Amino acid sequence: MLVLLHPTILNLLVVHAQKNCDFPAIINLGDSNSDTGGYAACFTPPTSPYGDTYFHRPARRFSDGRLVIDFIGFFANLTIQQVNASVPDIVNNFSANVKNLYSSGGRSFWIHNTGPIGCLPYVLTAFSSAERDSAGCLKPHNEVAQYFNLKLKEAVAQLRNEFPSAAFTYVDIYSVKYSLFAEPQKHGFELPLVTCCGYGGQYNYSAEVLCGGTIRVNGTEIFVGSCERPSVRVVWDGIHYTEAANKFVYDQISTGSFSDPPIPLKQACQRT
Ligand SMILES: *[C@@H]1O[C@H](CO)[C@@H](O)[C@H](O)[C@H]1NC(C)=O
Ligand SMILES: *[C@@H]1O[C@H](CO)[C@@H](O)[C@H](O)[C@H]1NC(C)=O
Ligand SMILES: *[C@@H]1O[C@H](CO)[C@@H](O)[C@H](O)[C@H]1NC(C)=O
Ligand SMILES: *[C@@H]1O[C@H](CO)[C@@H](O)[C@H](O)[C@H]1NC(C)=O
Ligand SMILES: *[C@@H]1O[C@H](CO)[C@@H](O)[C@H](O)[C@H]1NC(C)=O
Repeated sequence: MLVLLHPTILNLLVVHAQKNCDFPAIINLGDSNSDTGGYAACFTPPTSPYGDTYFHRPARRFSDGRLVIDFIGFFANLTIQQVNASVPDIVNNFSANVKNLYSSGGRSFWIHNTGPIGCLPYVLTAFSSAERDSAGCLKPHNEVAQYFNLKLKEAVAQLRNEFPSAAFTYVDIYSVKYSLFAEPQKHGFELPLVTCCGYGGQYNYSAEVLCGGTIRVNGTEIFVGSCERPSVRVVWDGIHYTEAANKFVYDQISTGSFSDPPIPLKQACQRT
C-alpha cells in the first residue's frame, strides 16, 4: 500500500489503484487541500471502498485531526512565535504516527511538506499588517511553514534510517505551490493572491461570507459564486486551491522532480 501523508491531517481516504508499484491500497492522510484535483487527476476517481475500511482501527486515530498541524486550529489564537515553537513537537507527533502506520503494515510513504500558507487569502486577510515578500505573501507565516518543512525533512530522514524495509518519499509541495504565486504567468495563471470565489477586499475574501454564501449589500442580496475563469486561477475559496492549481501541482510532483529521493510516484514503493 502507498500512504500519502500531508502534514495537515484532517481526513482519510482509501482507494484501490494499480500502478507500477501495484499498491493494494492508497491511504491519503491530509488536510482538505490534499484530496482535491491533484488526487482525482492522479488516480481514477475514488470508488468503493471509499473510507477507512483498510486500516480500520489505526486509521481512525489518524483521521481525527490530532496528528495535525492545522494552521487555521493554530493561528487563530497563538502568536507566530508560539506556533513556530510548537513545530518540533508537531513533527515528533507526526513521526510517532507514521510509526503506527508502519506497525499496521504501511511500507510506502509519500510525504508531502506543507505549502506557503502565508500566500493564502484567509491568512493574508487575517494578518494584514504582517511583512510581505516580493510575491505579496506573508513572510513570517511562510518562514514557519519552511521551518516546519525543514524539521519534517529531518524526521523523514530519520524514519528512513530506522525502517530500512520501508520507502519514504519526501515531496516538496511548498516549492511547486510557491511558484504559482511568484511566477503565475509563466505557468498560465493570473491574480494568484485573489480568491476566485469569495467576496470583498484586496483578496476578494472575507471570513464573514464564504464561497457559496450570500451577503446583503445596501439592500441587495449578492451570491458568492465562482469567478469567470477558475482554470487560470490559483486560489478557489481563499483557503483551498483551484482544480487547475491542484492539477499543476500534481503534474509537477508526480514525475519525482520535487521528491527526495527523486523517484516518480508510480515507483514510490522503491527503497533507496
Ligand atoms: C480562540 O479563543 C477564543 C476566545 O478566547 C475561543 O472562543 C476560540 O474557541 C479559540 N479558538 C481556537 C481555535 O482555539
Ligand atoms: C522558528 O524557530 C526556529 C528555531 O528556533 C528559528 O530558527 C526560526 O527563526 C523561527 N522562525 C520564526 C518565523 O519565528
Ligand atoms: C503531541 O502529542 C501529545 C501526546 O499525544 C499531545 O499531548 C500534544 O498535544 C501533541 N502536540 C501537538 C503540537 O500536537
Ligand atoms: C453602499 O452604499 C454606500 C452609501 O450609499 C456606498 O458608499 C457604498 O459604495 C455602497 N456599497 C456598495 C458595495 O455598493
Ligand atoms: C470575486 O468573487 C466573486 C464572487 O463573489 C466573483 O464573481 C469575482 O469574479 C471574484 N473576483 C475576482 C477578481 O476573481
